[in-house]
Amino acid sequence: MNILLTGGAGFIATHTCVELLAAGHSAVIVDNFVNSKPEALRRVEEITGKKLVCYEADVCDRAAMERIFTENRFDAVIHFAGLKAVGESVAQPLRYYRNNLDATLTLCETMAAHGVKRLVFSSSATVYGVPDEVPLREDMFCKGCTNPYGWTKYMIEKILQGVVTADPSWTVVLLRYFNPIGAHESGRIGENPNGIPNNLMPYITQVAAGKLDHLNVFGDDYDTPDGTGVRDYIHVTDLARGHVDACAYAASHTGCEIINLGTGTGYSVLDIVKAFERVNGVKIPYVIGPRRPGDIAACWADPSKARALLGWEAKKTLDDMCRDAWRWQRMNPDGYGA
Ligand code: WQD
Repeated sequence: MNILLTGGAGFIATHTCVELLAAGHSAVIVDNFVNSKPEALRRVEEITGKKLVCYEADVCDRAAMERIFTENRFDAVIHFAGLKAVGESVAQPLRYYRNNLDATLTLCETMAAHGVKRLVFSSSATVYGVPDEVPLREDMFCKGCTNPYGWTKYMIEKILQGVVTADPSWTVVLLRYFNPIGAHESGRIGENPNGIPNNLMPYITQVAAGKLDHLNVFGDDYDTPDGTGVRDYIHVTDLARGHVDACAYAASHTGCEIINLGTGTGYSVLDIVKAFERVNGVKIPYVIGPRRPGDIAACWADPSKARALLGWEAKKTLDDMCRDAWRWQRMNPDGYGA
């Protein structure tokens, strides 16, 4: 299949690109590089030994999208493009709603005009909100998000469900990611956060590298085994394979499916710290602090639908995630550079 990846230079997208090319597909990228680097795509080409077609453009730019769809014939689209920083979305809600919703609407309108009707969307477990019970299943009622970023994912799910209701010949796969961490085992591509990381694993790797002094653990009084927050961490390469399987599924089905991509196992913040220290032989000094506003106690996936529909399951272990995250950090102390 020839697949368009919007936001194709990002963390999850570059790993997906590697897996798509390895599975024999071809990929076209559109990215405005607002939060990513062209160097990431050069490294995908280096890892795979294959060439990518890349357009520097904004998915909200209708004329640019029209040109991309006129110059290529796509079998499916994977829609990664979007702003994704939770805290920033609270400070800049209009920018988040405008950008994330506009990009999706422009993309879908362009797809419809060109008869491309298979879409895989980068959604998030954040749409479940504060869960009543775990593990989280796709048919659970979503009670609402805690920030504009999460609401954009929620709203886009609703928009895409509406597209399928109106035209059942579309296929939409809404992939709800849990907590993607790790990096490609080559150490050549990985997560490249701007400034001080918000998320746990990139923060830990920067503490390990001596760039940050210590980890602040956000609360140890949750109702969890050790009191720290529990999440379903998934290796980005496993997550990437899930997209390849979702594209294969989309090629032979119509309708809309919501699918969790998680391992089904929850680990606490201190589990992650201990595993990272043991696997990599480094010390992660940490200080227990107050809870972070908006955080939930525990969240992990029921991944059985992904197994049933896609034949997919996570294969990598927490040790793999810790080892690969640290290799990426060590080999690329400044990420992809300036
Ligand atoms: C994991 C755990 C923290 C940092 C967020 C978004 C979600 C998704 C992924 C993406 C929690 C604790 C963290 C630190 C800590 N969005 N922690 N010290 O919050 O599960 O999910 O990122 O684009 O929508 O909400 O992930 O990695 O931030 O936190 O103690 O410095 O680590 O409290 O328990 P989260 P996270």
